[in-house]
Amino acid sequence: MEQKVALVMGGGAGTGRATALAFSAAGACVVIVDIKEEGGRETLELVQAQGGEGLFVKANMGSADDIQRVLEQTRTQFGGLHMVSNNAALGTPNKPVTDLSEQEWDRCMGVTLKGVWLSMKYQLPLIEASGGGAIVNIASVSGIRGEAFQSAYAAAKGGVITLTKAVASEYARRGIRVNSICPGGINTGGMQFYLDQMPEMREKVLNTHAMGRLAEPEEIANAVVFLCSQKASFITGHDLVVDGGVMVKSNVIDFGSAD
Ligand SMILES: NC(=O)c1ccc[n+]([C@@H]2O[C@H](COP(=O)([O-])OP(=O)(O)OC[C@H]3O[C@@H](n4cnc5c(N)ncnc54)[C@H](O)[C@@H]3O)[C@@H](O)[C@H]2O)c1
Repeated sequence: MEQKVALVMGGGAGTGRATALAFSAAGACVVIVDIKEEGGRETLELVQAQGGEGLFVKANMGSADDIQRVLEQTRTQFGGLHMVSNNAALGTPNKPVTDLSEQEWDRCMGVTLKGVWLSMKYQLPLIEASGGGAIVNIASVSGIRGEAFQSAYAAAKGGVITLTKAVASEYARRGIRVNSICPGGINTGGMQFYLDQMPEMREKVLNTHAMGRLAEPEEIANAVVFLCSQKASFITGHDLVVDGGVMVKSNVIDFGSAD
């Protein structure tokens, strides 16, 4: 990925940070975008510490103005754009669907679904002008099978999967591949916070995964880098499930695994 430019939305922590570091380790210049200044700057320092080149831009993935500013800075500083991970997202408090407020629904949709659309709306022309590339949108297994008490998040992630397929089809002959990834649980700050609040949920969450563990952020990052690489040159419109076996674990009769 030498001479290539990668952009990570929500690169200031967790999976986004791991993705920025993985792009950089593969030789790309990395633009790190985050709504939180401290995390974004820390990621940039980590990129630089491993010998990479990058740029941090503080921006909100739910804002068209912010995204346009990010792409303008990317073009000015690095001359183009080739690879993207649209990774930022916002859930809601865990609530029954009838208790969810309109404001909570709109906030979640505004970043988690609309933010991915807005990001691609402004990323696609720059990638095309740079000679083509690839986009990976981070969805979730919740977007395939639903998630009780996270109806807005699940609906938004389902939307990300379908939006990805629509854009993949539009751009398939224009040199831009567009795929999504559906992670299961990832061992990030957000997940740690949740498990710290409800320690009784830890075993249940781990057992939802056939592998009995969460993903490390690097395991999702590796899949992003693969989908953006030449090794994935004929893959577009695909939703890659990277979930340690959430989707294949039986929820009817659980015989456990043969270990
Ligand atoms: N953690 C999990 O278990 C899990 C499971 C399935 C899918 N996912 C998805 O993976 C992706 C990454 O999750 P994570 O756990 O690494 O997240 P995280 O909470 O660790 O990090 C998310 C980063 O995005 C930034 N961010 C949030 N809103 C933003 C906005 N509006 N604009 C710009 N930046 C913003 C945050 O400041 C943070 O740095 C998300 O799309 C999430 O929905 C996570």
